[in-house]
Amino acid sequence: MTDIINIVPMSKQHIGQIAKIESDSFADPWAGQIFYEVLRVPDCATFVALRSESVAGYLILRRTPPEIEILNIAVKESERKKNIATALFSALFEYAKAQGANEFYLELRRSNGPALALYKKLGFEIDGYRKNYYENPKEDAILMSLKLKTGKI
Ligand code: COA
Repeated sequence: MTDIINIVPMSKQHIGQIAKIESDSFADPWAGQIFYEVLRVPDCATFVALRSESVAGYLILRRTPPEIEILNIAVKESERKKNIATALFSALFEYAKAQGANEFYLELRRSNGPALALYKKLGFEIDGYRKNYYENPKEDAILMSLKLKTGKI
């Protein structure tokens, strides 16, 4: 197995693997169709981490500079704790710099310890909570953001 991870934009050929990672990762996964729709939305950008030709993880965002909202991120179970999410965020921060975006927003389930630890490590701070935001199962959301000084991304 190669150690090299390439980060590329999502294309249709990745979506089968992505949909599998998605359904393995979330109690309320996005339907596969949503990933095809993302490809058609001009304000969305996508990052797919590939090990050889296999999808190891993905990140999807919506941009409205200076803001970027992270809509989805997941890493394949067997690829976790190998800095794949960190690599996806590095690619995102490079992209944001080129787009003139320096504010990042996301939300997560209150019980999602690994994601909370990841976002805190990246410098995100908790802005608040949204009661019963998620369904299946019902759960509060933690709202987080990261604001970087322009030029210091
Ligand atoms: N427990 C505690 N902290 C964790 C963790 C875990 N299981 N996984 C990641 N972290 C934190 C650590 O601070 C880690 O830094 P360290 O390795 O120096 O301790 C940091 O995140 C970076 O880890 P990384 O290896 O880049 O993360 P990852 O590639 O394993 O991906 C998730 C992290 C959250 C994306 C992954 O666990 C995942 O796909 N989970 C299911 C989907 C999901 O919850 N997505 C987020 C929705 S809001």
